[in-house]
Amino acid sequence: MADPGWIDAISLEKLPSDDVVAVTVAGVEIAIYRVADEVYATENLCTHGMARLCDGFLDGHEIECPLHQGKFDVRDGRAVCEPAIEPLRTYPIRIEGSRVYVHVE
Ligand code: FES
Repeated sequence: MADPGWIDAISLEKLPSDDVVAVTVAGVEIAIYRVADEVYATENLCTHGMARLCDGFLDGHEIECPLHQGKFDVRDGRAVCEPAIEPLRTYPIRIEGSRVYVHVE
């Protein structure tokens, strides 16, 4: 892992299945989602307003914003339910042992 963009973000043990947790990585707040055995990362701030997605409701691969109930697909960040229209930024994930690494530019 010579690429310095990969940052150790969280332990898998602190990431419950079918839940979302916020972490700050290199000064950026990121939402990390665990859906069954898969892990995904997006920016934590909704693109529609000032709401943190870590306070929302994760249903399968969709995160529902807690403020206006817009929804995003956590796999690619695309908005899937209005009023959310703009996609979320996503971040590559790598799991090594029990650690989750996020790639941040
Ligand atoms: Fe997220 Fe409006 S702030 S849908």
